[in-house]
Amino acid sequence: MTENLDIEIPLFAFSHCRDVVAAVTKAGGMGVLGAAWMTPEELDMSIEWLEREVDGRPFGVDLVFPGTAMDDEKSPAEYLASIPDAYMAFVRDMLDRGGLSDLTAEDRDAFMAENAVKMAMTNRKSRDQLDVTLARSSVSLIVGALGVTPDWVVKEAHARGVQVGALVGSARHAVKQREAGVDLLVAQGTEAGGSVGSVASMVLWPQVVQAAAGVPVLAAGGVSRGSHILAALSLGCQGVWLGSLWLGTTEGELSPEMREKLFAAESEDALLARVMTGKPGRMLRTKYVDAWQAPDAPALLSWPMQSILNGYSYKRAEHARDLDYWTYAVGQVIGDMKGHTTVKSEITRLLNEYVDAVEELQKVTDID
Ligand SMILES: Cc1cc2nc3c(=O)[nH]c(=O)nc-3n(C[C@H](O)[C@H](O)[C@H](O)COP(=O)(O)O)c2cc1C
Repeated sequence: MTENLDIEIPLFAFSHCRDVVAAVTKAGGMGVLGAAWMTPEELDMSIEWLEREVDGRPFGVDLVFPGTAMDDEKSPAEYLASIPDAYMAFVRDMLDRGGLSDLTAEDRDAFMAENAVKMAMTNRKSRDQLDVTLARSSVSLIVGALGVTPDWVVKEAHARGVQVGALVGSARHAVKQREAGVDLLVAQGTEAGGSVGSVASMVLWPQVVQAAAGVPVLAAGGVSRGSHILAALSLGCQGVWLGSLWLGTTEGELSPEMREKLFAAESEDALLARVMTGKPGRMLRTKYVDAWQAPDAPALLSWPMQSILNGYSYKRAEHARDLDYWTYAVGQVIGDMKGHTTVKSEITRLLNEYVDAVEELQKVTDID
């Protein structure tokens, strides 16, 4: 797999932040840019930036293909308009009670309109993002977030010599993706940050390896130490795929205060809930998440309205510099993340720990 993709180490990094993607690729791994929130124009600019930055080394792009989940596709403005007033009022009252200063109505409306464009992941947007990605010959890998990768995506990517990967949370989905013709599977356990299934990595990884029937599998969900990499390889995976760990790096998308909020948390604080998107996902437990889970809270909105609505609290928390009502997708490895790092230092640490773990394993398995 590393030969196929022309990388030195089988370490893949998912990040919304192009600086992380570039740094991982430059370190010999494969950075994969999370493009779900980008407009096609923003994605094109980011790919162009990456091309200049990585100087011919391989990188990937992660896209969301909503597929049949979005039968009644609307424009971002229509999605925004379909959020009931009572829901905006619920969030506003919660934040007022928490003492967070509000935005002006003008700033709030402008931000919500912009956020709707980011969060409404429609089929039309995916189509445009794919066109932009395939038009640039620099992209080596396209990865589809959870959900079966549509046939036409695989065909069009392969026609341009681009490999296709897909995230799966169950062996059943692995079979479907394999049948769809993907080149690479990312087996993501429930420990992971973001949208997740319910099966833990220890059980899932070998199940997916078996179902993949020869298609290479990357281990995702709960990887933050070199010993995890050894475990992943022992369970039949060919590499690892990490997301949460990069949130603690200076190259990542979070402010120093947000990073510190994560460092103060433990693994138990990475809660599985539907608050961020309306679908099950793992996120930092905060007062905001608790308020949505309280018995008097309204039923959560469906995707993408819930994600659009959450932008209001995110922006207000940022504006008021009060992170008690902020939240972010993060996995259980949060309990291992205890201070500011860089991408390079994290990769060096992971590789050193991996070598130590191999040596330790040899000591216990050496029967001479
Ligand atoms: C902040 C954040 C956002 C994520 N967004 C996406 C996404 O848009 N598409 C996707 O395929 N995976 C997404 N993921 C999941 C990652 O691709 C990856 O599978 C996961 O982070 C691996 O587990 P870990 O968090 O334990 O490292 C996200 C993860 C995080 C932490």
